[in-house]
Amino acid sequence: MKTDQIGKATNRVDGRAKVTGEAKYAAEFNADNMAHGFVVSSAIARGKIKSIDTSKALALEGVLEVFTHENRPGYVWGDKNYKDQDAPPGSPFRPLYDSEIQFSMQPIALVVAETFELARYAAMLVEVEYERAEFDTDFEANMSEAYVPEKYKSTPPPDPRGKPDEAFEKAAVKVETTYAHPSEHHNPMEMHASTVVWGQDGKLTVYDKVQGVQNSQQYICGAFGMDKEDVHVLSPFVGGAFGSGLRPQYQLFLAVLAARELKRAVKVVLTRQQMFSFGHRPKTVQKFAVGAAADGTLQSVKHDAFAETSKFEDYSEDVIIWPGVLYKCDNMELSHKLVSLDVYTPLDMRAPGGTTGIFGLECAMDELAYEAGVDPLEFRLKNYSEKDQNQDKPFSSKELKACYQQGAEKFGWSKRNPEPRSMKEGHNLIGWGMAHGAWEAAQQEAAAKAVLQPDGKLTVSSATADIGTGTYTVMTQIAAETVGLPLEDVTFKLGDSSLPKSPLEGGSWTVSSVGSAVKAVCQKVREKLLKLAQQVADSPLAGASLDEVTFADGKIYLSGDAARSVSIAAALEQNGGKSIEEQVSNKPLEAQEKYAPYSHSATFVEVKVDEELGTVKVTRVVTAIAGGRIINPKTARSQILGGVVWGIGAATEEETVMDNNLGRFMNHDLDKYHVPVNADVHDIDVIFVEEKDDIVNQLGAKGLGEIGIVSVAPAIVNAVFHATGKRVKELPITLDKLL
Ligand code: MOS
Repeated sequence: MKTDQIGKATNRVDGRAKVTGEAKYAAEFNADNMAHGFVVSSAIARGKIKSIDTSKALALEGVLEVFTHENRPGYVWGDKNYKDQDAPPGSPFRPLYDSEIQFSMQPIALVVAETFELARYAAMLVEVEYERAEFDTDFEANMSEAYVPEKYKSTPPPDPRGKPDEAFEKAAVKVETTYAHPSEHHNPMEMHASTVVWGQDGKLTVYDKVQGVQNSQQYICGAFGMDKEDVHVLSPFVGGAFGSGLRPQYQLFLAVLAARELKRAVKVVLTRQQMFSFGHRPKTVQKFAVGAAADGTLQSVKHDAFAETSKFEDYSEDVIIWPGVLYKCDNMELSHKLVSLDVYTPLDMRAPGGTTGIFGLECAMDELAYEAGVDPLEFRLKNYSEKDQNQDKPFSSKELKACYQQGAEKFGWSKRNPEPRSMKEGHNLIGWGMAHGAWEAAQQEAAAKAVLQPDGKLTVSSATADIGTGTYTVMTQIAAETVGLPLEDVTFKLGDSSLPKSPLEGGSWTVSSVGSAVKAVCQKVREKLLKLAQQVADSPLAGASLDEVTFADGKIYLSGDAARSVSIAAALEQNGGKSIEEQVSNKPLEAQEKYAPYSHSATFVEVKVDEELGTVKVTRVVTAIAGGRIINPKTARSQILGGVVWGIGAATEEETVMDNNLGRFMNHDLDKYHVPVNADVHDIDVIFVEEKDDIVNQLGAKGLGEIGIVSVAPAIVNAVFHATGKRVKELPITLDKLL
């Protein structure tokens, strides 16, 4: 008599809607009299618009208006509250604010017409005269100007500990090395889009592709001086985001502007090329000086990161916290500097800071392990840390040793010959490499509402998002299990700014934050239900406390006594035909403050490198994850598979290349910006190790959105070294770097 929804591999509750096309995305909503906007992007990287001639576009029948900085209404950008929840310190970019060009492909006009095709054509007729200015887009050339930001977007660097210089000098083995991670752009299937429906009363209904509807709502209110009550933002489905929807993007601003001015519905969809015109993963160069005793015991870690930002915002990530999280060492010094360039501000992309920082760290440590002649896995065991030394706090739980053990066993790591170039198959060199990783298991305050109708149907809601990760499904599972209802009787609602307050859907914190709120609100429903069940005539539950009963299979049982129960339907009959309604705002557990909550991973990789062609094939990946309690093994596995695939892409394919003559990313399309396809992806084995954690949040689940990617690329780099004897220090490992 237990429904056991949590922990059960469950198909997506929204799966049918998704594969049948019933699920609607931001650009798929329509309204009567809808107009279409097309964005005109700047051709130069920096300077001014001397003149912008829209007459040819406006002369076309069916073109309604061309919005530029010249005709931007005065009420826009009136107050300073347009900062969104994910804005780094600085001054956010304001579309159509003035004639200033701050980055290549900056939106400079929106052409609005009766049809999309007409808007796109008319956009080509807009004539712009620029006054060009000098620009800096060359990262390497500007590294000497790198600075320490006054305020960090994320954690400020931990204080130095011990005597890193002295310890490095004395170390028996040492490595000084530099690793570079390129810029990358988010490429979700769904392009950024906003459909804005203007109501007669001036109220707006906005369908936005975003990871936080309330963030978009707040941004619109700030930018346009509107009241919250007049702006309703919806985002029921999101076709992938990876961080690109953490900040409202410029199509939202432009669509709202046009809808308000034209007093009709307007839709703006960015092109794939325009997807490369806002935030990206910042190029990050990391210098390491690491030293160990002859037996591989770490003595000193110095880690200096240099990362890209824009000229108008100081975007920074947690690149350098990882040595203190992942390795026991008394002597550490860490620094993070920014290189500001004439580009759009970088933006969180799956495991921001961890993807770059753990890549560099894990490759540098592999070098050190080789230098010391210690097996890479043994090296990590030897330097295993029981606490987060940055904060001097123990982990809330850490089953990384189980990850090593189970991952290594499944992979067959013990059969590895440590010698580089020791394994060969025809013209392929075979390499085995490993790395480990971590990600914060954060929890934010979140609210949820539950309504249990007299007919026994439960609806739970919160203004969070499902960016493809399975939020609808896991929240439904948590609610169903807590109230003891079958999955079919539970509906979860999200992606609506009028729902209870939720944090942005990011940081791998949605299950811990919103899931815990769902659990908490459903526990309140249980309390009510038990009271009602006790009012049933001759109730077998009379006098029982909540601890003494079990909610399962649509019934409330005396625990351990299947024969003595009251059905939830019977309990609801006692409620006078009314629904049970509860709402909570759930805070992180206080006990967390004394602990460092992190998820962990260990990844083992086999590569085959064609000796003649230099091509790298990632033939086998075993990744073991310690992510606390797994709510849904099926969606959880998919999350990790996605992370591994991205790790393969990061290691071997992905990079946005800056053309410093034009100040523009050259490969701004999917034919030149390469991501893995099926032919690049082979065996992937995902292991979830047992991990119990009562501190991390009310569910014991750590979140899996980001831990899947962090240790993959370095394991591949390390495997390529083992295969070839070549240490590629700049991603991606394209064939030219191996020949
Ligand atoms: Mo994630 S980069 O926090 O959407």
